[in-house]
Amino acid sequence: YDVEVDLDPAFTVGTVDDRLFGTFVEHMGRCVYGGIFEPDHPTADEHGFRQDVADLVRELGVTTVRYPGGNFVSGYRWEDGVGPVDARPRRLDLAWRSIEPNTVGVDEFCRWARGLGIDPIMAVNLGTRGVRSAVDLLEYCNYAPGTTALADQRVAHGHKDPHAIGTWCLGNEMDGPWQMGHKTAEEYGRLAAETARAMRRADPGVELVVCGSSNGNMPTFGTWERIVLENTYDLVDHVSLHEYYQPVDGDMDSFLTSSEAMRRAIGAVTATADHVAAVKRSRKRMTISFDEWNVWYQSRFPGEAGLDVREGGPLIEDTYSVTDAVVVGDLLMALLDNCDRVAIACQAQLANVIAPIRTEPGGPAWRQSTFHPFALTSRHARGTVLRTEQRGPQLSTGEHGDVPATRVTAVHDPETDELVVLAVNRDRDTPARLSVPLRAFGHGPAPMRLVDHLAITDDDPSATNTPDRPDRVVPRPVTGTDLTDGRLTATLSPESWNIIRLG
Ligand code: AHR
Repeated sequence: YDVEVDLDPAFTVGTVDDRLFGTFVEHMGRCVYGGIFEPDHPTADEHGFRQDVADLVRELGVTTVRYPGGNFVSGYRWEDGVGPVDARPRRLDLAWRSIEPNTVGVDEFCRWARGLGIDPIMAVNLGTRGVRSAVDLLEYCNYAPGTTALADQRVAHGHKDPHAIGTWCLGNEMDGPWQMGHKTAEEYGRLAAETARAMRRADPGVELVVCGSSNGNMPTFGTWERIVLENTYDLVDHVSLHEYYQPVDGDMDSFLTSSEAMRRAIGAVTATADHVAAVKRSRKRMTISFDEWNVWYQSRFPGEAGLDVREGGPLIEDTYSVTDAVVVGDLLMALLDNCDRVAIACQAQLANVIAPIRTEPGGPAWRQSTFHPFALTSRHARGTVLRTEQRGPQLSTGEHGDVPATRVTAVHDPETDELVVLAVNRDRDTPARLSVPLRAFGHGPAPMRLVDHLAITDDDPSATNTPDRPDRVVPRPVTGTDLTDGRLTATLSPESWNIIRLG
C-alpha cells in the first residue's frame, strides 16, 4: 500500500527536550543490585559499578534517570542509604517484599549518573513519609558545603560537590491502591502542595513533578489529575503519566498500535490540565513527565502480594522480541510527536527489570531488541519535530478502532538542515511504499542527500537477543531507498520500525 507524507520545515510541533530520552532505576529486582552495581563482577570499578553495563548505558543515549522508585520510594528512608556502608541497616522493602541492603544510596547513585553525564531525577517518599524528609533530602543533595548540617553531612560522607538535582518527583503512583501510603486525590493534592511549597522555599530553582494517574485505565483517571492539579497548579511544573503495554488475548494488531493509547492518554491529561488552567484563569501550560513507559508483560507477573520475602534476585525480567522493539520505536515516536506537551519521559527500567539492558551475574551484559530503537532515536532525533500530514490506509484494531497502518515522525535540525524520518509499519502482512516530497528542504549550497535507512524487522517477529546470540535482533540497512528530484521513496517492511537519515 502507499503512504504519502507532507512535511515543511516551517510547520513545527516543538523542540525536543533532551529529557525525553530518560530512563528509570528503581531498587527492584536486579536493576541496581546485579544490574548497574555488582562489586564482584570482573568489570566493576572501585565503587562496585559494572563498566560493561555503564558502556551500554552510554551507547543507549540516556540523558536523565529517575531514582530510586517507583513503588519502592513509598517505603524508603533515604537516610538509610548514606554514610559508612557497613553501618547501613538492612530494611524490609514492602513494595517488592525484598530485603534492601542499602549498599547503594543517593550518593553512590548520583556519582554513577553524573560520571556518565546523566542528570538524576529524584523521587521523594510521599507515601509513608512527608514534607520534612523531602526537604531534608533536597537540602542534603543540593546545599553547598558549610551552609547547613545536612550539607556538611554529605561532605563528611565524601561528596563535597552538591548533587545539584534539578527535577524532583513528589511521590510515586499515589492513586494506586498497591502503593504504600496510598491516598485519595484530595489527600495527595494537599500533601503535594505543602511539600512543593516547602521544597521551593529550600531551593526555588527546582522543577517539580506531581503524580498523575498510574495509567489511563485507572478508575479515577482524569478526576485524579483534576483534583490534584486544582491543589497544586501554581506550585508544580509537570504532571506525571505512566503506561505499560502488552498484547492482550493474542490481539497483535492492537498491541502493535499501542502508541495510539499513549497518544490518547497524553491528550486526555493535557486536556484535563488545560481545564484546570481555564478555571484558574492561568496562562501557564502544564507539561507531562511520562516518567514510566514501556512494554511490560504484566500478565506474567504474579503481583507483589504473591511474592515471598526475599533477599533480592530477579523480578519481571521480560525478554523482548522484534515485535516489542517495533512497539517501543512507535512509542518513542508518539512522545516526539507530543514534544510540545511532554517535557520528560523515562523508559522503565534500565537494567534487567523490563529493561533494554540485561546482565548475567559475573557474566555478560547484552542489548535487548528494544535497546536499538531507543539508542537510534536518542542519537539522531534531536532538534525540531515537524507537523506531518499523512495519507495512507487505516488498520482496524479491537482496542483502538481504525488507526493509521503507518505512522511517520520527522525531526529536523534547523541549524544543519539534517532531517530524520522515523516510520513504523504496523501492518503485519503488507509492505508500505513511503513517499515524502522534500522540496521545501535543502535550500543551502548542497542539496539534501540520503544518509542511511536502517530498520528493525525480521522474518521471525518473535526473535530475541540472548547471551548466546546477543546480536540476533539488530537494526539492518534497507536497500532501495531513494532521494531523487526532491522526493524520498522507501519501502517499509511489514511490522517494521525504520529510521531514515537525510542531510
Ligand atoms: O516499574 C515497575 C513499577 O511499575 C514501579 O515501581 C511502579 O511505579 C509501577 O507500577
